[in-house]
Amino acid sequence: MSEIDVNRATFDEVMVPVFAPPGFVPDRGRGSRVWDTEGRDYVDFAGGIAVTALGHAHPELLKVLHEQGDKLWHIGNGYTNAPVLRLAKRLTDLTFADRAFFANSGAEANEAALKLARRYGIDQHGEQKIEILSFTQSFHGRTFFTVSVGGQPKYAEGFGPQPQGIRHLPYNDLPRALEAIGPKTCAVIVEPVQGESGVIPADPAFLKGLRDACDEQDALLIFDEVQTGVGRTGTFYAYMQYGMTPDILTSAKALGNGFPIGVMLTTDEIAAHFKVGVHGTTYGGNPLGASIADKVVELISDPKLLEGVNARSEAIRLHLDRINERHGMFKEIRGRGLLIGAELSDAYKDCAKDVLNAAAAHGVIMLIAGPNVLRFAPSLVMPLDDLHEGFARIGRAIGQVVAGNR
Ligand SMILES: Cc1ncc(COP(=O)(O)O)c(C=O)c1O
Repeated sequence: MSEIDVNRATFDEVMVPVFAPPGFVPDRGRGSRVWDTEGRDYVDFAGGIAVTALGHAHPELLKVLHEQGDKLWHIGNGYTNAPVLRLAKRLTDLTFADRAFFANSGAEANEAALKLARRYGIDQHGEQKIEILSFTQSFHGRTFFTVSVGGQPKYAEGFGPQPQGIRHLPYNDLPRALEAIGPKTCAVIVEPVQGESGVIPADPAFLKGLRDACDEQDALLIFDEVQTGVGRTGTFYAYMQYGMTPDILTSAKALGNGFPIGVMLTTDEIAAHFKVGVHGTTYGGNPLGASIADKVVELISDPKLLEGVNARSEAIRLHLDRINERHGMFKEIRGRGLLIGAELSDAYKDCAKDVLNAAAAHGVIMLIAGPNVLRFAPSLVMPLDDLHEGFARIGRAIGQVVAGNR
């Protein structure tokens, strides 16, 4: 059969319309460059939404993909496999955790975390210990449990009755959290930097306060590091910067550099409450994904690579400062490592999408976090030449938006 001819218009004919991609169709990537089907090149500051942390087509990952692809892709969880055992050992050696449960996405890793927290609470204290505390604007995925726990009602409404026993509190408001965490609380779930809602870092004192309150009430502290994990903030996991550990940590996105894989990490004591058959997955922990993730973790946990994250972070912030000096475009530039948000000033209110579109027209793939925040989540090894060239293009794109805004 010959190859079927497709283009952007095909999207509107055959895809369920939950996304609205721009007019070009990305086709090929190398490092921090992407080419579309017409052969135009783009500098990639989005990294597939904080996923391709080692860039596109990293040679060492390609090697693993080919070697493991030649050997065994999938066996099912009725059996185990060496790549997943190696990956679990690597992650538990690197972190607070003793145990790993593998899934295929961030939402599924969170689903496992929330179910485990409920199970742990009920086993330890009875049926009333089921309350999950989460924060407004947080994002934890799109399964029904995770949109209900997430703090953006628009994602959870319109689907009928939601799971119960979930409360939302203002992020970074420790007094309100301390009031709310009580004997019924089984878990508090928090992003160390809220990614989707505008790149908002947690105050260290807020996280520390949550830790102490969870200890007092025998509630589990879950860090959702789906976006912040795997080197993104300059340490392998963001919690490592706060001098404390969570009870459960979820990770996905950069873990597979684009191969779908997620993980829930936890301690021996908590993991013991997930007995054989209590939770499961068909694909989670398959040897192909696990071998790729194992190489990703090996490469990204290298201290030299992590130092490079902070160097690139500073370079991006310098460029953003320069744009700001010229156009007064940003109210605040914030974030950690290579998860950076630039919040638009009032003069450019709701213009983030305009900047994103103008950037695409000038050869840059950008990311936004809501209508007012430009988000940068590029490869952690982005070549500096690409970074500077990307900002030259962004500068031209922003010039155009500024001219249109006058
Ligand atoms: C903090 C956080 N948690 C969970 C998710 C959901 O991950 P996935 O889309 O892989 O299900 C995301 C995705 O953006 C995220 O940023």
